[in-house]
Amino acid sequence: MAQGYRIAVFASGQGSNFQNLLDASRAGGLAAEIVLLVCDKPQAPVVERARQAGVECFLFDPKAYARREDYEAEIAEKLNGLQVDLIVLAGYMRLLTPVLVEAYAGRMINIHPSLLPAFPGKNAIGQALDYGVKVTGATVHLVDGGMDTGAVVAQTVVKVKAEDTLASLEAKIHAAEQELYPQVVSWFAEGRIRVEGRKVKVLPAP
Ligand code: GRF
Repeated sequence: MAQGYRIAVFASGQGSNFQNLLDASRAGGLAAEIVLLVCDKPQAPVVERARQAGVECFLFDPKAYARREDYEAEIAEKLNGLQVDLIVLAGYMRLLTPVLVEAYAGRMINIHPSLLPAFPGKNAIGQALDYGVKVTGATVHLVDGGMDTGAVVAQTVVKVKAEDTLASLEAKIHAAEQELYPQVVSWFAEGRIRVEGRKVKVLPAP
């Protein structure tokens, strides 16, 4: 396992992926340590999870800044100070500017609850259900300046059954995310990711 691989998780909401990564890290099931939570909603449940676990938080109110670039510059300074290797977006509900996208190109990932490029943006699970697809799933992708448009790193397929409701499909997709995200973070930590344009390769384990 990579010693000392340091990640920052960005989240805006519940934080079930944050909690899962934290639990995996502390149980030895993730080749990385969470050194920072970045959150744009100081009242979000994810903040309480970080506090309980003693993870440092960078909390900010976007409305207190004239431009997105201004708060991102502060975040970048914090990330540099903590020598963060990888940014892991987990339900972070803000588009990023070049301040972070360029500084962390190839070193910033997001998880999205559909098989991209299908159903980007908000309410992806509801969009898939309404469309009537028979399979959907979860995607981990590199982050670029667009909305869920970066190169795909890994995907998990989830079947949609005729009897599925929004709640049941959400539960299946969240379970898939919790398997997938620690796995992908570990691949980065182990130096097994190679990016060639839109093609992302995972090298075999040594
Ligand atoms: C997840 O479904 C993730 O795919 C999406 O936002 C949700 C975050 O959930 N990007 P949580 O805050 O980790 O519980």
